[in-house]
Amino acid sequence: MDSDQWDRRYAAKDLVWSAGPNRWVEEVAADLPPGRALDLAAGEGRNALWLAERGWSATAVDFSAVALDRARSLAGQRLGEHAGRVTLIRADVRDYPPDPAGFDLVVIAYLQLEAELRGPVMRSAAAAVASGGLLLVVAHDSDNLAHGSGGPQDPAVLYSADDVVADIDGCGLRVVRAEPRPRPVEGTRDAIDAFLLATRDR
Ligand SMILES: C[S@@+](CC[C@H](N)C(=O)[O-])C[C@H]1O[C@@H](n2cnc3c(N)ncnc32)[C@H](O)[C@@H]1O
Repeated sequence: MDSDQWDRRYAAKDLVWSAGPNRWVEEVAADLPPGRALDLAAGEGRNALWLAERGWSATAVDFSAVALDRARSLAGQRLGEHAGRVTLIRADVRDYPPDPAGFDLVVIAYLQLEAELRGPVMRSAAAAVASGGLLLVVAHDSDNLAHGSGGPQDPAVLYSADDVVADIDGCGLRVVRAEPRPRPVEGTRDAIDAFLLATRDR
């Protein structure tokens, strides 16, 4: 989907994703001390906003202007005088070079890209992880089509945690976890997410 298609999807609903953070982001970041976070393909900012509420300085990048407008308005409502903790950047993540070693936590949640486009994005995300920092990638797993539920139906934009491990090979990160994870979905069988957590050792 291009940015116009995403804009139309966001414009059709008040909130496309949950107000609260993605469950895997919450699991990983709940006990981390606040720092600098980068959320690539941040959508309406559910993860960046939650991090900012916990004291993080969060940069949210997405190519949908409609999603970012919503994130801006939610930041005003939820963060009040601290709304400046969230920086919203409209950009295509394929062309956006984050600051190398500039972030304590880099999140990519449910970015749908074909393998040849995904690799460079994962590598620049890995490069953005500071010493001691984390890269968290969650996605609709390749297995989700046959054994899960929901998510994109085009197999070309699905991937596994092992695919991301291969993408970031040589980027100086140590893989902490790389696995498929079931995610409960109301009224139907679990979705299958890819979960990749990696760190840049000090
Ligand atoms: C499934 S949504 C997930 C949003 C958010 N990460 C979350 O978990 O709530 C995918 C997001 O990726 C964004 N996106 C897709 N391709 C992109 C690209 N090449 N550059 C920037 N954003 C992109 C879309 O606009 C959309 O907001």
